Amino acid sequence: MKPLHVLHVVGARPNFMKIAPILQSAERSPMLRSTLVHTGQHYDEKMARLFFEELAIPRPHVDLEVGSASHAQQTALILARFEPVLLDLRPDLVLVVGDVNSTLACSLCAAKLDIPVAHVEAGLRSFDRTMPEEINRLVTDAVADLLFVSEPSGLANLKQEGVPDAKVHFVGNVMIDTLHAHLPRARATGAVSRHGLEPGGYAMLTLHRPTNVDEPEALARVLEPILELARQLPVVFPVHPRTRERLAHSGLSAPGLRTVEPLGYLEFLGLLAEARLALTDSGGIQEETTVLGVPCITLRENTERPVTVTHGTNVLAGTDPGRIRAAIAAALAAPRVVLEPPPKWDGHAAERIVEVLETRGSPTSSR
Ligand code: UD1
Repeated sequence: MKPLHVLHVVGARPNFMKIAPILQSAERSPMLRSTLVHTGQHYDEKMARLFFEELAIPRPHVDLEVGSASHAQQTALILARFEPVLLDLRPDLVLVVGDVNSTLACSLCAAKLDIPVAHVEAGLRSFDRTMPEEINRLVTDAVADLLFVSEPSGLANLKQEGVPDAKVHFVGNVMIDTLHAHLPRARATGAVSRHGLEPGGYAMLTLHRPTNVDEPEALARVLEPILELARQLPVVFPVHPRTRERLAHSGLSAPGLRTVEPLGYLEFLGLLAEARLALTDSGGIQEETTVLGVPCITLRENTERPVTVTHGTNVLAGTDPGRIRAAIAAALAAPRVVLEPPPKWDGHAAERIVEVLETRGSPTSSR
């Protein structure tokens, strides 16, 4: 039988750690043939290239080089540039991960050409449609033929939306596959001592959601209690490009706030693993801290990853300075606990995905 030709898509930083284990598992299967397309949504050394190197992701077959633009322009450019690639390569299936603009655009493009779409990390919902990622998740799941779910809430949400059970597969979390595969190397980078830190003696901060960083008042509000924390504990803050300029103009700083360039995967994971606590508005860090047992304070009013709250270390503190301050105090006072990871966050999610893809057998067999 001819192998199933799977075209994998990556675009932005959080996609890279999700695609790496899937490509590696797919590579081992004689029943699958893989092609990788990078949309170029993230393109610079620190946001993209370094991740290919560290995670041994093969060179993409095609780079659409779309770069940064407004949501409409970026999505439109990906649609326009991805269509000829699909027409040329005619894959049997397009596999997309996560919830970035590249995920939405490539799913839509494939669906319009009647090419089946597999969505990894399907079913997550923040129920907040002001988040661009929520729109991306809803649209991608609506056109997907195979929905790979990372946590129980995803199953419930898709059922609620009437997605047939036959399309849905609870496989676990591929980002955690990557964490398990790279944690020993990440620890071996010696990042903690290189940054002049003590294990358990510092906090990690990331902030890039438009609602937190685009308006100077919002940024100042959310940073207020963190600047207080930085006076007693070093806070390492790898600054996302979106946040960089706003932060520079804000003049906000504190002696212990260590702003650094965006870090590579291994260096960031090495630091996160030994942190006393993490403060973040990212989705992936809520998941990684859950598995690492590092307390996580999420600077958002909602999460599309509720298992990190029910089974993990995550606390939703929102953006009110008083609530963030209280969450920091509680995290610093609590002893560190080792928790059972959420179901199927065991390092084998990508293998389960590949098993399902293998059962698709010949092209367009079960659409
Ligand atoms: C995107 C994703 C978000 C994800 C985040 C991780 C969407 C809607 N958002 O947000 O879900 O959590 O990536 O980083 O897809 N820039 C660079 N270098 C790059 C890429 C971007 O300097 O390689 C700068 C550009 O000035 C750009 C800004 O960062 O305007 C924001 O990039 P963009 O891709 O628009 O969105 P993110 O905020 O990164």
